[in-house]
Amino acid sequence: LLVDASEASGRPLSETLFGIFFEEINHAGAGGLWAELVSNRGFEAGGPNVPSNIDPWSIIGNESSLIVSTDRSSCFDRNKVALRMEVLCDSQGANSCPDDGVGIYNPGFWGMNIEKGKTYSVVLYVRSSGSINVSVSLTGSDGLQKLAAANIIASGSEVTNWTKFEVMLEAQGTNPNSRLQLTTTRKGFIWFDQVSVMPLDTYKGHGFRKDLVQMLEDLKPQFMRFPGGCFVEGEWLRNAFRWKETIGPWEERPGHFADCWMYWTDDGLGYFEFLQVGIFFSSVIQECLEFPLKSCFCRYQFLKILFMQLAEDLGTLPIWVFNNGISHTDQVDTSSVLPFVQEALDGLEFARGNPNSTWGSLRAAMGHPEPFDLTYVGIGNEDCGRKNYLGNYLKFYSAIKRAYPDIKIISNCDGSSQKLDHPADLFDFHFYADDPKNMFSMAHHFDHTSRSGPKAFVSEYAVTTGSLLAALGEAGFLIGLEKNSDVVEMASYAPLFANDNGRNSKFSAIVFNSSHLYGTPSYWMQCLFKESSGATIFNATLQTNSSTNQVEQLLASAISWKNSENENSYLRIKIVNFGTDIVNLKIVVDGLEPNSINLSESTKTVLTSNNPMDENSLNEPKKVIPNRIPLEKAGEGGEDV
Ligand code: AHR
Repeated sequence: LLVDASEASGRPLSETLFGIFFEEINHAGAGGLWAELVSNRGFEAGGPNVPSNIDPWSIIGNESSLIVSTDRSSCFDRNKVALRMEVLCDSQGANSCPDDGVGIYNPGFWGMNIEKGKTYSVVLYVRSSGSINVSVSLTGSDGLQKLAAANIIASGSEVTNWTKFEVMLEAQGTNPNSRLQLTTTRKGFIWFDQVSVMPLDTYKGHGFRKDLVQMLEDLKPQFMRFPGGCFVEGEWLRNAFRWKETIGPWEERPGHFADCWMYWTDDGLGYFEFLQVGIFFSSVIQECLEFPLKSCFCRYQFLKILFMQLAEDLGTLPIWVFNNGISHTDQVDTSSVLPFVQEALDGLEFARGNPNSTWGSLRAAMGHPEPFDLTYVGIGNEDCGRKNYLGNYLKFYSAIKRAYPDIKIISNCDGSSQKLDHPADLFDFHFYADDPKNMFSMAHHFDHTSRSGPKAFVSEYAVTTGSLLAALGEAGFLIGLEKNSDVVEMASYAPLFANDNGRNSKFSAIVFNSSHLYGTPSYWMQCLFKESSGATIFNATLQTNSSTNQVEQLLASAISWKNSENENSYLRIKIVNFGTDIVNLKIVVDGLEPNSINLSESTKTVLTSNNPMDENSLNEPKKVIPNRIPLEKAGEGGEDV
């Protein structure tokens, strides 16, 4: 606690110094933050042609009771694939169905977490050649434990055309490895499409997994870069993230194969949802407004739109990275890049345009007439040096600056060691290290960066091992960024999330399965920097009798900030000891009045463990977590670290 901060003199840190980078990798969104429990809800995972890939849907029954296939009969124009079931058995007679019926089940993303007393909204689209009686149930992974069930019963005339059904299921038991079953004992043909199970108990009711959002909130992120990474580029351009395919009613979204990470996403977490977290169960009395693909939506009079929007709810600045006509494998020539430029401009109009504009009206129709606060864009990801990067970049740059002069543009080229040869407001800087030592020694990387050029956006950094030592290396790097915050405007760790069952990377900040999660040491390390954005940094020096070698393993910074809730000012001194020895030291902070610190109301938070290679896991989620204790007044010799 700082008793008097009025006379303190230091330098201001960037208001947006630390934030998050959300990439759809490791099932961070699909099977993660996005609470949808059904995987491949539209049966499109094999692409638009049939037969499609219905994985992970599986069949309940055998060849004498059921034939399951896919066709292109869906009412949704952008995702025509539907599942067709020919039920051969019947409720009675020689070929009678098993008591529990035949049909299909979906285990979600490695099991659905169904919890006793909670309610789940199940939506599905059905068509049939006759009357139907379908049991919709949530069960254990073997189908035996019944957690919740309801029947959908309709006459043939009611389901001759595609019809939407919605049932609310309240779970009577808990099982983190549950599945959704659609079964029947009635002979005939039945088609299913766009099957969704959403828990009602989500973050602020907004459709995000509460426990995962809480972890993000606790980091106090000042910005959110999205949606990738490689996810934006694609291995092939045809599989890159295309924002227009990810907006509008969820049923209408085609989904896409994220070939960079080799999994399918239904794109429930789309461009709109990234821009702002909010909820709009809007009654679309204005009858479907401007949705260009409104046919099914209107035909079946869906009166609800559920749209969730991430960045706004977290109170962070969105930073949109878009595809620049370059993937890992193919790229368009600069002479042909204009459609990509137009797509980006349309995306900006969607986010910021007047509600009467072409794309702004679509945003308004989705329940958000006010523009989003989108002021940063990244042109491509890690593409500097690719044949068409510069040519394409310049086309995007001039078109965006002409239309939106205030937008800050981020180049993929590294300007930390030499000046960029093209205009940019920021340059993107990524650094991954296999060895924590290499990350620690990067603390001084920006010391000599030109202060007159564009600022740095360290949008991806990580040590690739996930241990305590990795986090210490990263902490040293971040202390270096704080000290260089006059040239480093923003920084974010990568990747943010990993579903333990569907990892693309061994390391991440937060790891989860269907029901549990833990923060890695890298996550807890970032928590120690959560007050830094917009804080004041002081010149801090360490005094110790230790050997030069030991001193080189130490880094420290001192910041102060005002807590807006209690109006108190605080000083935070962070010290990283990357060495193996306990060190006795004093820290001298310039710019503070003597006696301005109230030590009796101060605390010490330590992130350590017996072994620097220790990691957290689902079994031992708290092996390496910060420990906060009162700070005893330091004796003559100072504090041990
Ligand atoms: O963080 C994983 C990947 O690493 C990102 O998608 C990419 O930008 C980087 O190469």
